[in-house]
Amino acid sequence: MERLTSPPRLMIVSDLDHTMVDHHDPENLSLLRFNSLWEHAYRHDSLLVFSTGRSPTLYKELRKEKPLLTPDITIMSVGTEITYGNSMVPDHGWVETLNNKWDLGIVKEEASKFSELKLQAETEQRPHKVSFYVDKSKAQEVTKELSQRFLKRGLDVKIIYSGGMDLDILPQGAGKGQALAYLLKKLKTEGKLPVNTLACGDSGNDAELFSIPDVYGVMVSNAQEELLKWHAENAKDNPKVIHAKERCAGGIIQAIGHFKLGPNLSPRDVSDFLECKVENVNPGHEVVKFFLFYERWRRGEVENSEAYTASLKASSHPGGVFVHPSGTEKSLRDTIDELRKYHGDKQGKKFRVWTDQVLATDTTPGTWIVKLDKWEQDGEERRGCTTTVKFTAKEGEGLVWEHVQQTWSEESNVKNDSSWII
Ligand code: GLC
Ligand code: MG
Repeated sequence: MERLTSPPRLMIVSDLDHTMVDHHDPENLSLLRFNSLWEHAYRHDSLLVFSTGRSPTLYKELRKEKPLLTPDITIMSVGTEITYGNSMVPDHGWVETLNNKWDLGIVKEEASKFSELKLQAETEQRPHKVSFYVDKSKAQEVTKELSQRFLKRGLDVKIIYSGGMDLDILPQGAGKGQALAYLLKKLKTEGKLPVNTLACGDSGNDAELFSIPDVYGVMVSNAQEELLKWHAENAKDNPKVIHAKERCAGGIIQAIGHFKLGPNLSPRDVSDFLECKVENVNPGHEVVKFFLFYERWRRGEVENSEAYTASLKASSHPGGVFVHPSGTEKSLRDTIDELRKYHGDKQGKKFRVWTDQVLATDTTPGTWIVKLDKWEQDGEERRGCTTTVKFTAKEGEGLVWEHVQQTWSEESNVKNDSSWII
């Protein structure tokens, strides 16, 4: 958050499973559309917050399976764990507030008396979250009885039913909504209260997000019955909350447009990049678009035309250098020439490219440094490179690529130099 010197323009607080991530779309298209929109138009002045029911363990697993961006803030275990930045620094202050009228031992003891409750995996049992599976038909009754028992034992807990199967027991002060309220308060004291906040969700544990004042909300089209029911009973007349027509991340993009929170056209929805050349004054945009072009080129989704390579060459410096992750130095223009022979080589294959944490800084007048992570999913293999691009801006000529340097990302599961082009 330190990188922001003024209040963020937009803060998106999104659930992951069935909201940001569509588990029914093996191509991850809506997620990839959201990713390019975020990196293109929001990353530099906005905040991305993931708020998931998953524990840190399962959250990290999901990151390996799906092309998720790196959020600025991660809220896990149904609002009981808040962490900041890439290295996920925990918010100890938040944890302290959760101990009020909470006793893990008593919660487990009382819950174990219910045969209808089946304990979830060990990884999902957290210091301030105890989780079970329970049949839909039993959920209401069990919740009611559990609450009474906890009350008798002097505890103040919150029981949340999600996804028509999960039952979470948390301290009363916890939950996704309370965690968001805490975060907003914290940002406000730092003078960084977001101009707009958009909460996105699909299931029971997201309901609280939609009752935080001054927050826009979107329930994605595929929202669960329990969330729609909650909405009908509690927030039907709130114009700040919509039920989107589109699934998952598509619904988030739809809400950005609906509430007029900023640009809502993903670069992935633009078919011809050469056409939008004139607006190209932002080096971050240039990079997002280049790697999108690169994906389409290799998938054979753009025409194998000289015009493209000629335009790329024209915007790269004649003496420009590319340092490949292997350490080999090449000329930038030769790299573009080499690209020619790869047109369509990934046609019909599982091949996707996305950029993450695209941030541009203008070091000296007329010079820009763009840092980003470039990821490539190639079949079952995923590789990523920390990428630095140096641009020079010349009056009337737009941006010129001067230097590109890549090194393998720590999280890359393979660091195989061969067949990595750029
Ligand atoms: C995630 C968690 C699970 C929790 C559910 C609903 O799936 O892994 O423990 O019950 O979210 O909050
Ligand atoms: Mg969900």
